[in-house]
Amino acid sequence: MSIGTPQISASLLNADFARLGDEAVRALDAGCDSLHFDVMDGHFVEAITMGPNAIRSLRPYGSVPYHAHLMVSRPLSQVTAFAEAGSDLIAFHVEADDDPGAVIDAIHAAGRGAGLTLNPETAADAVLPFLDRIELLLVMTVHPGRGGQELIHDVLPRMAFLRDQIDRRGVDLPIGVDGGVNLGTIGAAHAAGGEVFVAGSVLYREQGDLAPVVAALRAAALEDAE
Ligand code: DX5
Ligand code: ZN
Repeated sequence: MSIGTPQISASLLNADFARLGDEAVRALDAGCDSLHFDVMDGHFVEAITMGPNAIRSLRPYGSVPYHAHLMVSRPLSQVTAFAEAGSDLIAFHVEADDDPGAVIDAIHAAGRGAGLTLNPETAADAVLPFLDRIELLLVMTVHPGRGGQELIHDVLPRMAFLRDQIDRRGVDLPIGVDGGVNLGTIGAAHAAGGEVFVAGSVLYREQGDLAPVVAALRAAALEDAE
C-alpha cells in the first residue's frame, strides 16, 4: 500500500460564516495542506451551502490547493464557474446525473484536477473505470449533507479494496477521506489507505490556534489503528 504522508484538508462547512476569511486563515496558519469547500445544491443533498464566490473571495488568502467538493446533481454545469473562481481541484459525485467521464474531461479541459467521490452506500465498482483518469478519489465516510457526523467504519474495508485496486493499476492516486475524521478515527482511516483527510468539525469546534489539533491529527494518523 503506497500512501504518502497524511494531509489535512480543512472543511469550512462548520466554520463561522460571519468570519469566513478569519476561519480560513486559522486553518492555513495551522499548516493545513488544502481547503475543502463543501458545495451543496439542495437537490443532490437537502442542504444548500456555498457557491463559487466562497472560493473566489478566499482565493487571495492562501496558496495551498482549494478543493471544491460538489455535492450537486449536475456537476457538468458547474465546472467552469468553480474553475474560474480559483479551485485547484473539483471533486464531484459518481452518483450525480452527468456522465462521470464527461465531467472529468471538462474539469481537465478547464485546467484543474479532477476528484471523484462515492457515497458510503455506493459499490466500489462504480469508480473503478475512472481510477486512471482522476487526481483524487474522495471516499465519503459519512452520508453527504452536513458536518459533525460520526465516521461510518463499514466504509473502511471498501477503502482498503480501492487502495489495492489503485496499487494494482500502478496509478499514483491519493484517497481522500471525507466525514467524521477526528483523533479517534483517523488512525483506522489511514490504515485503510486514506491519505487526504477532510477535517471539518474536529477543527472548527476549537477556538484560537488550530496548529495543535492539526499536529495531533497528523500524529494520530500514523499511530496503529486500534
Ligand atoms: C459532508 C461533507 C464533509 C463534512 C466534513 O457532506 O462532505 O466534508 O462536512 O465535516 P466533518 O469533519 O465535521 O465530518
Ligand atoms: Zn466534503
